[in-house]
Amino acid sequence: MTTSKRDLYEQLASQLSSLLAGERDLIANAANFSALIFQSLPGLNWAGFYFVKDDELVLGPFQGRPACVRIRVGQGVCGAGAAKCETVIVPNVHEFPGHITCDSASNSEIVIPLMKDSRLIGVLDLDSPVLSRFDQEDAAGLEQLVRILLSSVTS
Ligand code: SME
Repeated sequence: MTTSKRDLYEQLASQLSSLLAGERDLIANAANFSALIFQSLPGLNWAGFYFVKDDELVLGPFQGRPACVRIRVGQGVCGAGAAKCETVIVPNVHEFPGHITCDSASNSEIVIPLMKDSRLIGVLDLDSPVLSRFDQEDAAGLEQLVRILLSSVTS
């Protein structure tokens, strides 16, 4: 029997809550977050964070190949998610104007903004070699995981 996507995100939410319990450091918890989802979600080639610093997105903890370090807000998929403060799903990155190629294996992408006290502090970025890998269930599941991360850390 295969686990549905919704069940998988529910299991991940429970695992993440246990994993982050008792630790309030953002970098440590973001590092464990990226490791957990990279190991648990099928079809990913990159999963990690960019954090807002001086009006740019700067690379944070991640799993996958080395990636570009700085992204301007508004640039690429990460910058689009940051500019809109909204989740962005890109079924085919090769059709997204301004997409930044970090790993040539990537074909689809999802970016979730990290909002702390109504302020953007960064984004979660997931890449997949599979076209149209991410849908609204992924968006809802990942937004829930991001809420768990943000509520675990000191402001
Ligand atoms: N593709 C992203 C850049 C970050 S990497 O995928 C890790 C973008 O267009 O913003």
